[in-house]
Amino acid sequence: MTQTPPRERIREIDITDLPESTALYIRVFNAPPWNDAWTDETAAARLAHTLDTPGSLGLGVWQAGKLVAVAVGYAEQWYDGQHFLLKELFVDPGTQGSGVGTRLMHRLEQELQERRMEYVYLLTARDSHAAAFYRKLGYRESESTILMTSNLPDQEVCDPRLP
Ligand SMILES: CC(C)(COP(=O)(O)OP(=O)(O)OC[C@H]1O[C@@H](n2cnc3c(N)ncnc32)[C@H](O)[C@@H]1OP(=O)(O)O)[C@@H](O)C(=O)NCCC(=O)NCCS
Repeated sequence: MTQTPPRERIREIDITDLPESTALYIRVFNAPPWNDAWTDETAAARLAHTLDTPGSLGLGVWQAGKLVAVAVGYAEQWYDGQHFLLKELFVDPGTQGSGVGTRLMHRLEQELQERRMEYVYLLTARDSHAAAFYRKLGYRESESTILMTSNLPDQEVCDPRLP
C-alpha cells in the first residue's frame, strides 16, 4: 500500500481544466504502451465532448499544484437507473505505479455512490496493463455483453453538385 503524498488534492474538473487535461492526455497516450497520435486539437475535442455530455463527471488529481491524473465519463439513463461509462483514465507517466490511479478510482466510485449510481463500465484493450489494473480493483469482463465492430466499406466521394 503506497502513501498519499502530502500535497495531493483531488477535485472535480470542468471545461476550464481542458488545456491542462489535454496536455496530460497527449503525454500519456502518445507514449508506450498505446503510442497513439493525438494532437492538441483531437485530444481537446475528445475530452471536451465527454465533459460537455449531460451527466458527465470528471475528477483530477493534483500533486504540488501539477495535474497528474484524470478520470472522466458520464452517466447514461437505463430503465433501472443510471449507469456510468468511464471514458478516460490517465496518469502521468512519471507518476504511474505509485497508487494514484487506485486512489482516483476509489474516489470516483465514492462520488458515483453518492449520486446513487451502482454500475460502472468501461472499454479497454484485452490483456493490457490497464485491464490488469482494473481487475485488481475488482472489475470483471462481462459474460453477457460483447463489443462488435465493423469497418465501413470504402465509398466513392459523393459530390452533391454532380448529376
Ligand atoms: C492504467 C493506469 C490508469 C493505472 O494507474 P496507476 O496509478 O499507474 O496504477 P496504481 O499505481 O494505482 O497501480 C495499482 C495496481 O494496478 C496494477 N498495475 C498498474 N500498472 C500496471 C502495469 N503497468 N502492469 C501491470 N499491472 C499494473 C498493479 O497490480 C498495481 O498494483 P501493485 O501496486 O500491487 O503493483 C495508469 O498506469 C495509466 O494511466 N496508464 C496509461 C493510460 C491507460 O492505460 N489508461 C487506461 C486506458 S483505458
